[in-house]
Amino acid sequence: MRVLVIGSGAREHALLLALRRDPGVTELFCAPGNAGTARVAEQHPVDVADPEAVTAMARRLAADLVVIGPEVPLVLGVADAVRAAGIACFGPSRQAARIEGSKAFAKDVMAAAGVRTAHSEIVDSPANLDAALDRFGPHWVVKDDGLAAGKGVVVTEDRDAARRHAASLLEDGHPVLLESYLDGPEVSLFCLVDGETVVPLLPAQDAKRVGDGDTGPNTGGMGAYAPLPWAPEGMVEDLVENTVKPVAAELVRRGCGFSGLLYAGFALGAAGPAVVEFNCRFGDPETQSVLALLRTPLGELLHATATGSLAEHTDLEWAPGAAVTVVLAAENYPGKPRTGDVISGADDEGVLHAGTVARPEGTVVSAGGRVLSVVGTGADLAAAREDAYRRMAQVHLPGGHYRSDIAARAVAGEITVPGPR
Ligand code: GLY
Repeated sequence: MRVLVIGSGAREHALLLALRRDPGVTELFCAPGNAGTARVAEQHPVDVADPEAVTAMARRLAADLVVIGPEVPLVLGVADAVRAAGIACFGPSRQAARIEGSKAFAKDVMAAAGVRTAHSEIVDSPANLDAALDRFGPHWVVKDDGLAAGKGVVVTEDRDAARRHAASLLEDGHPVLLESYLDGPEVSLFCLVDGETVVPLLPAQDAKRVGDGDTGPNTGGMGAYAPLPWAPEGMVEDLVENTVKPVAAELVRRGCGFSGLLYAGFALGAAGPAVVEFNCRFGDPETQSVLALLRTPLGELLHATATGSLAEHTDLEWAPGAAVTVVLAAENYPGKPRTGDVISGADDEGVLHAGTVARPEGTVVSAGGRVLSVVGTGADLAAAREDAYRRMAQVHLPGGHYRSDIAARAVAGEITVPGPR
């Protein structure tokens, strides 16, 4: 099978490495990729937001399967265009991708499916902002009502900070979503979904804030681990049966059945699990941890999902133990990152590239905010964590920063799940 992966992050690097382990995958292509993916797959430039360009490339490469990593091409209908050309494509249609692309659509689907989620309001004018803020708090959750790669979210107890963020979004012409705060530890549950067939992967947790101890602004994700040693027994089955399956069924009922990876983000609070968000693609950096443990051939799974036969692949095989991912970010991230710094020590197989580019003279330089991820594995979470930080110690990036506490609270047994299950 000839597989083309669309995207350029560490998530796509992880997808490529897992696809390479599948004996049924004979050729791997990546577009546009980065300095790391170029070592695993034949690389091609493409505008990932251009459905015709991606489709033409898939045809030219005689791809048997196209795997779309990021949300932007999915929301713009790239999967529809590829499928219309008769090529199997892993990724939802433009209509189904609204589960991530339109907060209003996602809330409507969840309400119809009877799924618990945060109460929310859209604010689209500064004139309505203060009254709306008064209806929320004492924690304010302020989101950009569009695709913002995690960085458009501010969660704060400071009303002035919430107001400043909302006002700046509105000033930039972005409607604001205010949400009630959901308490409890968060879980990222990735599910392969083919209509009403739902196959969960290992549950993971990511670290969204930039600093140790969950401090500082939100980012696209600074680290992740899987599985979750603190997860209550039966948690995955409960979340799949009571949330993901009803949502998948509701999408089918609306004529936009989901095909691809449905990312369900939960908060396990005192009142029970509630959905924080749905995304229409693999999460980053959780994918790096989850796929490091997958033993079932990934190409076969993604092809089955794309072609409507996922129901024949419900028993997945996982390596024992755990995986921990730590993200190395560029100076000033999540603000405007400094780029062009030379990276060294990033050749190891456990280093997954994101914002990197190879220079003609042979160096690799930073080219984005999240520069790379290191993935450690081990017999348990503590060993995986040690492995990840040992690998990170080999990597050098001037001005680079990473969190030193990924998975630390889970290893220390400090995460507890309150409330009814
Ligand atoms: N880890 C957060 C995301 O992928 O959106």
